[in-house]
Amino acid sequence: MGSLSKQDQVECRQKAEYANVDWDELGFSLTKTDYMYVMNFNPDEGKFSQGAITPFANIQLCPSSGILNYAQGLFEGLKAYRKEDEGILLFRPEENALRMNMGADRMCMPSPTVEQFVDAVKKTVLANKRWVPPHGRGSLYIRPLLMGTGPNLGVKPASEYTFLVYASPVGSYNNGELNLLIEDKFHRATPGGTGGIKAVTNYSPVYKPLTQAKAKGFSDVLFLDALSGSHIEEGSACNIFILKGNVISTPTADGTILPGITRKSIMELASGFGYQVEERALPIEEVFDAGEVFCTGTAMVVKSVASITYRGKRIEYKTGADTLAEKLHATLTGIQTGLNEDKLGWTM
Ligand code: COI
Repeated sequence: MGSLSKQDQVECRQKAEYANVDWDELGFSLTKTDYMYVMNFNPDEGKFSQGAITPFANIQLCPSSGILNYAQGLFEGLKAYRKEDEGILLFRPEENALRMNMGADRMCMPSPTVEQFVDAVKKTVLANKRWVPPHGRGSLYIRPLLMGTGPNLGVKPASEYTFLVYASPVGSYNNGELNLLIEDKFHRATPGGTGGIKAVTNYSPVYKPLTQAKAKGFSDVLFLDALSGSHIEEGSACNIFILKGNVISTPTADGTILPGITRKSIMELASGFGYQVEERALPIEEVFDAGEVFCTGTAMVVKSVASITYRGKRIEYKTGADTLAEKLHATLTGIQTGLNEDKLGWTM
């Protein structure tokens, strides 16, 4: 914890081992933790300055900042897990760093290096370690943000940037069945747009269709491609897979699909189980005769889809203990929480 002040280091050590949280009541919402990490981009030096752990608090922004006016911002999401022996594991943080790098290039922003990103994540977790839930009772969700903080009235990249990492203990993202509604009016992404990066702007536009779908009793929407409206793309915050026989298919991440780290990990695990894994365009009709459908995401992990509805037609799928989704979920979370041997070197 090189960047913690002596006083903060002492304070960290003196704190109780676990925060006073009802771990069994955790959902996916913010529980404020003790510290966050902040690192600013120094435009004169053309690089990020030394970052530091500071108490979790509101931040000050110029009303004319790039993030507030033109949404020049990215976020990431990853989790820290408590092992049975109380140690803490991070899952593939370099992948998040690389994805932020890629997104920063698209958004004309400077990005922290992989080393700076991973170091910031580790420091944030260590400073907030009493908030990492006990083994098997949730995880610490880590939210790195990269934003244009310099003043900007004209439409151009900001001159100043802030990289900030905060964290919150979380439980399940989605309790109960996953019943999806195929959305054929609103789209999440267009070719050449920003659907393939974790731009902050990719998320609030889903509120409208999602709110409408929830009002009809669905848990999430499944977006279609914006060009033909005939292929499925992804949910509001998760990737999608279909299983037919021995073949698992998911839409190709070629710009309109978020290249999920859970998505990538599941593809690797499923191939290891002997499944043929393919990325390709998935016509709506294929979803109707799939044997199984499941969603993946850092927040969602892996979850079976119970039904998909399209223009009044509802198809139900197998869920529960016998599904491939359940097997993949158990294998992945076993690695993430240290129960399974990490043969692929994914944890830190
Ligand atoms: C994640 O799974 O980390 C996501 O980005 C989804 C989030 C918007 C809740």
